[in-house]
Amino acid sequence: MRAVSYAQFGGPEVLRVVADLPVPQPEPGQVRVRVAASVVHPVDLMVRAGRFPAPLPAGLPYVPGWDVVGTVDAVGQSVGDLTVNDDVIGFSPWLRTTVGAHAEYVVLDAAWLTAAPVGIPASEAATLPTNGLAAAQALDLLALPAGSSVLVTGAAGQVGGFTLALARVAGLHATGIAAAGDREFVESQGAAFVPRSDDPIPGAAASFDAVVDLAVIGSSLMQLVRDGGGYVAASPPLRPEPVRGIRTFALNVLPDSNRLGELVKLVESGDIPLRVAGVYSFTDTAAAHHRLAQGGVRGGVVIVP
Ligand SMILES: NC(=O)c1ccc[n+]([C@@H]2O[C@H](COP(=O)([O-])OP(=O)(O)OC[C@H]3O[C@@H](n4cnc5c(N)ncnc54)[C@H](OP(=O)(O)O)[C@@H]3O)[C@@H](O)[C@H]2O)c1
Repeated sequence: MRAVSYAQFGGPEVLRVVADLPVPQPEPGQVRVRVAASVVHPVDLMVRAGRFPAPLPAGLPYVPGWDVVGTVDAVGQSVGDLTVNDDVIGFSPWLRTTVGAHAEYVVLDAAWLTAAPVGIPASEAATLPTNGLAAAQALDLLALPAGSSVLVTGAAGQVGGFTLALARVAGLHATGIAAAGDREFVESQGAAFVPRSDDPIPGAAASFDAVVDLAVIGSSLMQLVRDGGGYVAASPPLRPEPVRGIRTFALNVLPDSNRLGELVKLVESGDIPLRVAGVYSFTDTAAAHHRLAQGGVRGGVVIVP
């Protein structure tokens, strides 16, 4: 089968399309998916550059790619819910598996997949699984009651956009910090807009019930959280020490087909917008990595076979 692969760390130029990988076979509890679309994430660039700070379960060569939208093509033993020709959505927790979805076929645990949203093109749906679940799990960690206030940095980014939408659905009062040009998007999600600056919110008091820091501004934001509030960092090494009774958490997104199924329903009802910045074929994956590295991307950078 064809797949995007790299055999050495480096710039986007190390990405190649290989045509001779064996089609993977599902083990018990797994299904094989014929991939229609996947997405590039910031962490993919970090791993490709050899800058990911923790050990990975397998060495080079790697096939990158977390998110999957596609069609079940083969089913292993002991898979109850999915059958061949089901349209599915989910993600490979790549840092744990190094099983990549920038491939014609990918084998995943059936428990990581759910029915794809009906009537949504695969290139749009592929933007949902990892980042939608990251946003959902960030808010789940905080467990804020309706009416609570939450400050979201990187609010116009992929996880940030989903966080604003889910905050609105949960009845939270969100404030989004983003670039000046992102005001319309942030406000469209029912959030108050704050333009980004060196000082996140000049003169602001410790008034927010919680912060979700997706722009990796860091522990200086703790001063904006009320005593006993909550704080979610974008990754485990960035979690600050708790002070003033503030509970601090770090994102570590996990597959969850039930929660993803809830997000799919919110996509189908129009409550969660999906944004696509560009669609790239396997052969243009290097250009997709360049695009994401440049910054200013609003929407998923989608990879299709
Ligand atoms: N640990 C996990 O499980 C997990 C899962 C998913 C994502 N993440 C992490 O979460 C973060 C966000 O991911 P993403 O996919 O949403 O990335 P993204 O789409 O690139 O979003 C990041 C956003 O932050 C903005 N930004 C940068 N500096 C800022 C500042 N000082 N103030 C306000 N906004 C600022 C960026 O704007 P510009 O583009 O204009 O610079 C961009 O819109 C990344 O660090 C990612 O690695 C972690």
